[in-house]
Amino acid sequence: MEIQNNQLHLGGLSAEALRTNFGSPLYVYEEDSLRSQCRRLLKCFDELHQQQRLQLHFAMKANSNPSILKILRQEGAWIDAVSPYEVQLALDCGYRPEQILFTGNNTAPEELDFCVENGVPLNIGSLLTLEHFGKHYSGQNISLRVNPGVGAGHHAHCITGGPRSKFGIYHDQLEQAQELAQRHSLRIVGIQSHIGTGIFAPEPMLEAMEMILVLAEHFTELEFIDFGGGFGIPYRPEQQEMDVNALGQQMTERFEKFCKEYGRPLSMKLEPGRYLVGPAGFLLLSVTNRKHTPEYQFVGTDSGFHHLVRPTMYGSYHRIWNASRMEDELETVAVVGNVCETGDFFSVDQGNIQRDLPKTTVGDCLVIADAGAYGFSMSSQYNSRPRPAEVLVKDGQAQLIRRAERYTDLLRTTQELD
Ligand SMILES: Cc1ncc(COP(=O)(O)O)c(C=O)c1O
Repeated sequence: MEIQNNQLHLGGLSAEALRTNFGSPLYVYEEDSLRSQCRRLLKCFDELHQQQRLQLHFAMKANSNPSILKILRQEGAWIDAVSPYEVQLALDCGYRPEQILFTGNNTAPEELDFCVENGVPLNIGSLLTLEHFGKHYSGQNISLRVNPGVGAGHHAHCITGGPRSKFGIYHDQLEQAQELAQRHSLRIVGIQSHIGTGIFAPEPMLEAMEMILVLAEHFTELEFIDFGGGFGIPYRPEQQEMDVNALGQQMTERFEKFCKEYGRPLSMKLEPGRYLVGPAGFLLLSVTNRKHTPEYQFVGTDSGFHHLVRPTMYGSYHRIWNASRMEDELETVAVVGNVCETGDFFSVDQGNIQRDLPKTTVGDCLVIADAGAYGFSMSSQYNSRPRPAEVLVKDGQAQLIRRAERYTDLLRTTQELD
């Protein structure tokens, strides 16, 4: 993004022009940013990458637009999928079955069948699922999702390790998992763990890595260890980026030491979601209203938590710009949406819903930054409001990569009573 004549530009195009051409609200993604984030992360693990011992499995739950999946495939990403349709979509976008790792949770038997039929490797996170799988698919290779007993994340709902998390086989049950695998001639070729999302410091990731390596020692047939995703991005203006380069170095050194002791050059897998697509995405909206109460000055918009739920669901901070006037006198406002819920706000900041923004008037174009991950993919049609279009921008060109929904899309799956 850049500022020209006091207006915000994305991929070389003014946000206002994008809004005029494609409508409001609108998701916009900068292609260069998608590619550079992927290259950057690969570079941090260059030593392993050069030896083809690193696979970046993009967690496509963060953003499953087919055009974005194809761009990341071109950059060398593989896929972390959590549902059969994610698997299907990844296959349709040209990923080979072996480039996908299916990590379901509370997985239904048909989901296992679907993966096996399509040759997609499975990462199993429960003893019961393991037993069921073994009975039906004896002799297969599998990996295990492990709960190492620790977790981290930007919100309690995003911590996926530790005794309160539903994910993975708890570390003290791994012996049972090995017995089950042996009984059904399953080869455990991988160990995976993902302790949470939105982690901003290297320490929890390195700590979790240590715990996983201790567990991994007990498995004799490993081909890879998967340390999950969780790489955070700076959402707040004052936040420094995490030094992923240093983290990559530290993780690589520790991993190589482990491999030496283990006696084999294993592969490392990572499952970044937010890091790859978050900074590339922006949600453009229009100011439709202004009003005040004794407490708040409200700026009303034509979008809401049905399009970007993170502020409402997690209290997440997103930078908001007035793209029509990047610099002007500041005023303290609450930027809110058009959903019939009091919790429908964009400008949340640690419980406060007001912040300073350059003066806005009805018709201004607002832009919410870092909306590329868990933005559109978590959107809904709540209040019978259709989902917005998605556009990819690069070098002054814009391409529609998903049209906005219409009234008929709201009814596509319904059946009327006679
Ligand atoms: C199993 C798994 N891997 C990877 C990710 C991606 O996390 P992030 O977007 O923080 O990198 C998630 C997200 O919750 C996940 O559940």
